[in-house]
Amino acid sequence: MYKKDQSLTPLFDGLLNHAATNPTQFHIPGHKKGSGMDPRFCEFIGENALSIDLINIAPLDDLHHPQGMIREAQDLAADAFGADHTFFSVQGTSGAIMTMIMSVCGPGDKIIVPRNVHKSIMSAIVFSGATPIFIHPEIDSELGISHGITTGAVKKALAAHPDAKGLLVINPTYFGISANLKEIVNLAHSYDVPVLVDEAHGVHIHFHEDLPLSAMQAGADMAATSVHKLGGSLTQSSVLNVKDGLVNPDRVQSIISMLTTTSTSYLLLASLDAARKHLAVNGHDLVDGAVKLAERTRDRINDIPGFTCYGIEMLNDHAIYDMDPTKLTISIKDLGINGYDVETWLREKYQIEVELSDLYNILCIISFGDNEETTDRLIEALTALSEEQLSHIKKGERKHVSVHVPNIPTLALSPRDAFYSETESILLRESAGRVSAEFVMVYPPGIPILIPGEIIEEENLSYIGKNMDAGLPVQGPEDASLTYIRVIREHKPIT
Ligand SMILES: Cc1ncc(COP(=O)(O)O)c(C=O)c1O
Repeated sequence: MYKKDQSLTPLFDGLLNHAATNPTQFHIPGHKKGSGMDPRFCEFIGENALSIDLINIAPLDDLHHPQGMIREAQDLAADAFGADHTFFSVQGTSGAIMTMIMSVCGPGDKIIVPRNVHKSIMSAIVFSGATPIFIHPEIDSELGISHGITTGAVKKALAAHPDAKGLLVINPTYFGISANLKEIVNLAHSYDVPVLVDEAHGVHIHFHEDLPLSAMQAGADMAATSVHKLGGSLTQSSVLNVKDGLVNPDRVQSIISMLTTTSTSYLLLASLDAARKHLAVNGHDLVDGAVKLAERTRDRINDIPGFTCYGIEMLNDHAIYDMDPTKLTISIKDLGINGYDVETWLREKYQIEVELSDLYNILCIISFGDNEETTDRLIEALTALSEEQLSHIKKGERKHVSVHVPNIPTLALSPRDAFYSETESILLRESAGRVSAEFVMVYPPGIPILIPGEIIEEENLSYIGKNMDAGLPVQGPEDASLTYIRVIREHKPIT
């Protein structure tokens, strides 16, 4: 199946071999294998990790011009992911996403993107000066979340903007939902438009046939993939997979290098090498176990009054074409409390940490790091919460909560023009009708409620207020209290 020997870890082994020579180091990092470090931290991290916290000296290759063991490790990763080229990112998937967009878009170029994108995509649009052509994602009025984009919507966008320099697709979404990526890729390719995939939540899908198609399997041109999120590498380490054809890999290398620190962490890089090996060699069985565990957990959650955990019954031919069952999106709206209340209750009473909560749901992620013990604890906690909460609500008094997701605001200026415009700070509650110069988002998931250039509507303000009242982490503006927001300055005539 693979062309290369996936049991090898050239980068990790190269670092171990180098450390084994016990070199006397007159180079950074100045902690020199831990001796120059706070002793308590040094002891905690341990000498193994510190011995390979190294820098790009000649024997250790250089991520910016890989020709040795980093090159070998990246080539093995390309083979494992079905790509023609793989670039390691030590700046998370955010760095890989910015690279994808800046590799195909310059100032004024159009890029077709769903509006429910992660902030790194909007940042790249500001940096590159590209003009976003937004596609409205499908809103799930049962769950109160956005899904992917439909083939039909992509068809319309491409017909109206055949000169777009790229199409960005989120596959799968944070909640594990996929559109028909293969059909979307074929459509975009019929216009010679490259497809860039935000695969932050899908590193594992490539390794199991029952999961949605991965970006490379669907024939996409680039994919930014968080190995750290669900593939077992250290936090912040991701890969950027590239297929030859519509994208120039040399340009990708130059851009990722422009966006990357020169002090690349070898611990992160080695963890990518090891995670790739583990996924390629053992990934199928590991993912298989995680899927079975998640399905069993989903069934048990659905037996607990007040909770609903959706599964394959929600699939359709449109935006919910496929799903990753390891994402447990648990609707809590029948409990009479919001997702953040559930998140804090689980933390305080059971020391359980969920992936995210919103007004209507919590999201729990099952990976191959879980086992029956961890999922049993979740079931135990949710059962206790259901009993506690529903005992307060008399039979027949359970209200049906209707979910509300605001409409997408109108874009009055390109995000870059808005970001660099003359601005003023005004009270957020008085900002309706003004053009935002800032991002406002709930993080996680980091999907903007407002982006620079959009006209603020009352509906957005009440949605922001609702999230803040619920205790959810609304962020973005310079004023962290969100009393004020920066808007584009309006020049009134002098009288
Ligand atoms: C959909 C999506 N894309 C991109 C990212 C960015 O990934 P990273 O945190 O690795 O930079 C995230 C992070 O949560 C995400 O949810």
